[in-house]
Amino acid sequence: MSDRVTVSVIKADVGSVGGHARPHPLMMKKCEERLADGLRAGTIDDYYVTRVGDDINLFLTHTRGENNRDVHGLTWEAFMDATKVAKSMKLYAAGQDLLTDAFSGNVRGAGPGAAEMEFKERGAEPMVFFMADKTEPSSYSLPLCRSYMDPFTTTGLVIDPRAHEGFKFEIVDVCDSKKVVMSTPDETYDILTLLGDTTRYAIKKIWSKSSDIGIAAVVSTEKLNIAAGKYVGKDDPVCICRAQSGLPAVGELLQPYMFPALVSGWMRGSHYGGWYPCAVDDSDPVFFDGPPRICAVSLHVSNGVFQGLEDPTSPRGTHVALDYFKGSCWDKARSDAVKASIYMRRHGPFMPAVLGPEEMEYTTRPAVLKKLKERMEKLE
Ligand code: 13P
Ligand code: 13P
Ligand code: MG
Ligand code: MG
Repeated sequence: MSDRVTVSVIKADVGSVGGHARPHPLMMKKCEERLADGLRAGTIDDYYVTRVGDDINLFLTHTRGENNRDVHGLTWEAFMDATKVAKSMKLYAAGQDLLTDAFSGNVRGAGPGAAEMEFKERGAEPMVFFMADKTEPSSYSLPLCRSYMDPFTTTGLVIDPRAHEGFKFEIVDVCDSKKVVMSTPDETYDILTLLGDTTRYAIKKIWSKSSDIGIAAVVSTEKLNIAAGKYVGKDDPVCICRAQSGLPAVGELLQPYMFPALVSGWMRGSHYGGWYPCAVDDSDPVFFDGPPRICAVSLHVSNGVFQGLEDPTSPRGTHVALDYFKGSCWDKARSDAVKASIYMRRHGPFMPAVLGPEEMEYTTRPAVLKKLKERMEKLE
């Protein structure tokens, strides 16, 4: 048996109740059933089904490595079946993120988002799973830079000898399908030169530079609107982080979300709004299809399977994730996010409430310009 475990989070929006709000419980149940089949068949070692807003997130453990055909195929089948449920109820945008009828061995480029990491389990392996709705992968860049590069956020960068060695970042150019690996702390300013442009650059992976840890964090960076050639929904990305013991502590991963940064997405994927940290149960978008949501839940990976809290009423016993943004400690950040979002909304259809023209998911500009072609005159 491999001494390495793979953690995969594969997510998709395949339809929802109340507009782009929440998958129907029967869709989630269908996914659970398909993953239970995969568990019985030995394709995966464990699973956990959750959601943020209208996106279903499938957490899996297995020993098959990243981009495995059987693992991806299993999640594809689950999403196809959940789509059937959504279609039968005429739910909104049923099958939204499934861009093809035929599975070709990998969900990447086919619509769903995937974040996967393979590692050798440490003595304890606490993991934080971030799940976002109504926004894009580069939204994670600011909080990840704070956690992995900023000693005023992560005191561990100063006082934990292994964190002190720094990290390697894989940065992708999502528009040009290119990537580069850069190093902190030495290339910090160069990294920020790229990542500051959130329309183009995003963090894909982070590794510890300490010899005995390996992968630290992974973000799903499939740019769905580009994959589809046209807009079919914001990416609503996930980010998986291993925590503690040479890596940022859980608290150092969470602290950046106290500042509700303005992120792109929100209504029609075309606006900036304050990023609202909330519990999974509170992740239904309720204000102008948002504001963009961020949830953070934790499960450990213990001997190749998930270890969470216990809930005797749950059919799967120990599979209750800890939900970090549930409590009142985060009320201030939520209230700041709503305040920032209201402020942005007061601009109506004017920038910077709406995105720049290249990023707009909906636009009538070409049609309007065409109509005005004859009337548009050169300036004197
Ligand atoms: P329609 O284009 O179907 O009206 O959807 C708008 C939308 O997705 C914003 O909620
Ligand atoms: P989702 O990407 O979450 O489906 O939202 C689409 C949208 O346009 C909301 O207004
Ligand atoms: Mg949707
Ligand atoms: Mg969504």
